Amino acid sequence: MSATSTPAITPVPSPYGTAAARAAADAIRGRVPRWEPPVAGIVLGSGLGGLASEIEGAVRIPFAEVPGFPQATVAGHAGALLVGRLAGRPVVLLAGRFHMYEGHPAPLAGFPVRVLHALGTPVLVVSNAAGGLRRTFRPGDLMVIDDHVNFMFRNPLEGTLEEGDVRFPDMSAPYDRDLIARVREVAREHAIALVEGVYCGELGPTYETLAEIRMFDRLGVDAVGMSTVPEVVVARAMGMRVLGISCITNMAAGLGAAKLDHREVLEVGQMVAGKFQTLVRELVRGL
Ligand code: HPA
Repeated sequence: MSATSTPAITPVPSPYGTAAARAAADAIRGRVPRWEPPVAGIVLGSGLGGLASEIEGAVRIPFAEVPGFPQATVAGHAGALLVGRLAGRPVVLLAGRFHMYEGHPAPLAGFPVRVLHALGTPVLVVSNAAGGLRRTFRPGDLMVIDDHVNFMFRNPLEGTLEEGDVRFPDMSAPYDRDLIARVREVAREHAIALVEGVYCGELGPTYETLAEIRMFDRLGVDAVGMSTVPEVVVARAMGMRVLGISCITNMAAGLGAAKLDHREVLEVGQMVAGKFQTLVRELVRGL
């Protein structure tokens, strides 16, 4: 076989693979009286759960009732999937996610995105709370993710090769340039300041040491957090278009005044929730 040809896919069954995702998708569709294919799937990060209240005609399904989903355990994550409309467009919203620092394997962290794909979702909008490294950032800034560094030392595709997957997915442009341009346009129209930068996903749950922050700084990282990368990798492996937004809830360790605290992350997330919701709602309106 030449180096450039695509090897034939021999699916390796996984509890978080295509068959499980289809079963979850069937169960979700079965709960929705008038199912419409979603234009986007939206994952809400810590403190950003307010968008859930904007979903019109929402059918709310607790994570525990989605086959294959464990329960979300982190404060600030409601742990429910909502099907409904945002700005009149059909969407599926994940209020909560499965973090690897909770002990979940990487394929499970990416599993909800497989379910979104099985539901026919072409676009993934992911959000997170992150610590800012770039010196011009301030807590409360919203950052559109331009690129990422996977510092989790795990990959959601490891050990699995599912029908529809590419074995060696290209990651030279994980974040869709057209969606980035559109969200920048929305930000301009609504006078919302939007910065752009590189997100680094690390395992957590500890925040970083000062030496780690110096290292990330040298690696060209603008913001650091404990999620998002597994979801984006799965989405790209399945050919979904991705937009990522980080809420800079604090300056990274050693760059701000105070010690880091999850309460601050949630508070700042809630402070900027309105702007975040406008960005996502108006983006979805145009999809
Ligand atoms: N580091 C890692 N994850 C985070 C941070 C941080 O400073 N803030 C919010 N999530």
